[in-house]
Amino acid sequence: MQKYEEILKNNNQEHIFKYLDMANDEQKQQIINQIENIDFEQLNQLYDITLESKGGKLKSCIIEHTDFVDKYNIKQDYYQKLEDIGKEIIKNNKYAVVTMAGGQGTRLGFDGPKGTFKLNIAPKPKYLFEIIADGIKEANDSYGITLPWYIMTSNENNKQTVDFFKQHNYFNYPQDHIMFFIQGDLPLVDEKGKLLVDEKFNIKLAADGNGCIFKAMKNTGVLSDMKNRGIEWVFIGAVDNALLKMTDPILLGLTIDEKNQIGSKSIVKRNPQERVGVFCKKDNLPSVIEYTELPEQMAEERDEEGDLLFGESHIMCNLFSIDALEKISSNELPYHFAHKKASFLNEDGKLIKPEEPNAYKYEAFIFDGFNYFDDISILRGCREKDFAPIKNKEGSDSPETAIKLYNDYWKEV
Ligand code: UD1
Repeated sequence: MQKYEEILKNNNQEHIFKYLDMANDEQKQQIINQIENIDFEQLNQLYDITLESKGGKLKSCIIEHTDFVDKYNIKQDYYQKLEDIGKEIIKNNKYAVVTMAGGQGTRLGFDGPKGTFKLNIAPKPKYLFEIIADGIKEANDSYGITLPWYIMTSNENNKQTVDFFKQHNYFNYPQDHIMFFIQGDLPLVDEKGKLLVDEKFNIKLAADGNGCIFKAMKNTGVLSDMKNRGIEWVFIGAVDNALLKMTDPILLGLTIDEKNQIGSKSIVKRNPQERVGVFCKKDNLPSVIEYTELPEQMAEERDEEGDLLFGESHIMCNLFSIDALEKISSNELPYHFAHKKASFLNEDGKLIKPEEPNAYKYEAFIFDGFNYFDDISILRGCREKDFAPIKNKEGSDSPETAIKLYNDYWKEV
C-alpha cells in the first residue's frame, strides 16, 4: 500500500479515493501531496474536541472583570513619564510593527486581500495598506527612524498582497524594511470529520487563525530577524482598522512601567451586542472572551454604576516584549472552531454550494497568548481616536462608518 493510501485508511478519509479516481494525473499528485502534509493527529484531536464542546464553548473557570488605565484620565506627570519611556524605546530602534493580513474579509464581501480595499476618505481615497503605511511613515518622520514593518499574509492571499505592494511601489515605504511572512493552514472538515475537496481538486484548507502568528513568526525566521535588529518590543495590529495607532508611546510606557511583558489597548464596548472580544481574567490570568463565545447573560451584566462588567473591548492593538513572543511561540495555543458554509465537490464531481453551515473551521486566537503571563497592561483609548473597523459591507463597522470616523478624526488633528 502506498503511504497516502495508508494515511487515508487510518484516518477514516477513504472517501478521498473517489476524488483520486476522478482527478487527472496532475490533480491526483496534488491531492497526494496535500494528504501527506496534513497533520492528521492534530486534525482528529480538533474534531473530537469539536464534538465534545458543541454544547458550550466556554470552559468552566472563574471569570472576573479586569483593570485598565484610562489614557485620558492619567495625571499629567505620570503621562509625561510614560511618554518619555515609550519614546525612548521607539527612538532607539528597539520597536517593530506587525500587520496581520492573513484573513479573508468574507463579511465585507470584497474579493481580494482586505488591505487592498480602497476606503473613500478625504481628501483622497486610500487603500487600507496605504493608510497603515502612511501612519508608520508619519511616526518614522517624527522619531527620525525607519520602523521594521512585518506583514503576515496567508497562502491564499500572499502572492496578491506582495504583487499589490510592488505595483504601488510599497507606498514609498523603504522596501528593505518591509518583510512579508506567511501563516499556516488547516483543513476544513465536514460535520462527520471528513476532508472537503474543491472544484480544482484541492483539499480545502483555510488560514489557521491570527493566533498562529506566534508560530509563524518563529518558523519563518521573523523572530530571529527581530532579535538580530535589536528589537525589544513588537506591536501587532489588524489590517482593518482605519484609526489604528501602531506607535502609541503611552501604551509602551505603561506596559514597561507596570513591569509587564504584554499590553493592549481597549475601548468601551458600545453595547452588549457589539461584535468585539472583551478583556477579563480567567482563573486570575489575563484573557479575552471572543464575541462568538461570550454568553448573552455575561454580555449584559453591569456593575453598580451601570457600566458593562465585561465592557473593555479588545481592538487588536497588542504589544509584546520580544521575550513574550519567544515564550508564546514555544507553546501551543488552543484552537476554536466555527461552523461555516463551505462549497465543495460532492462524490459525483458536482460543486455544492450549501445554504446552511456544513463545515468546521479551526482557528487560534491571538489573545490566547495572554494566558501565558500573570498580568497585562490595558490602556483604555477612545473609539473616535482608535477604532474605525471595516468588517461588514453595510451598517455598523462598514466602510461608511469607518470613513466618517476617519474624516472626523483627521478634521480635528
Ligand atoms: C477580531 C478579534 C476581536 C476584536 C475585533 C476587533 C480575534 C480572534 N478576534 O475579530 O476580539 O474585538 O477583531 O476588530 O482576534 N487574521 C489573520 N489571519 C487569520 C485570521 C485573521 O491575519 O487567520 C487577521 C485579519 O486579517 C485581521 C485580524 O486578524 O487583520 C482580525 O481578524 P478578523 O477575522 O476580522 O477578526 P474579527 O472577527 O473582526
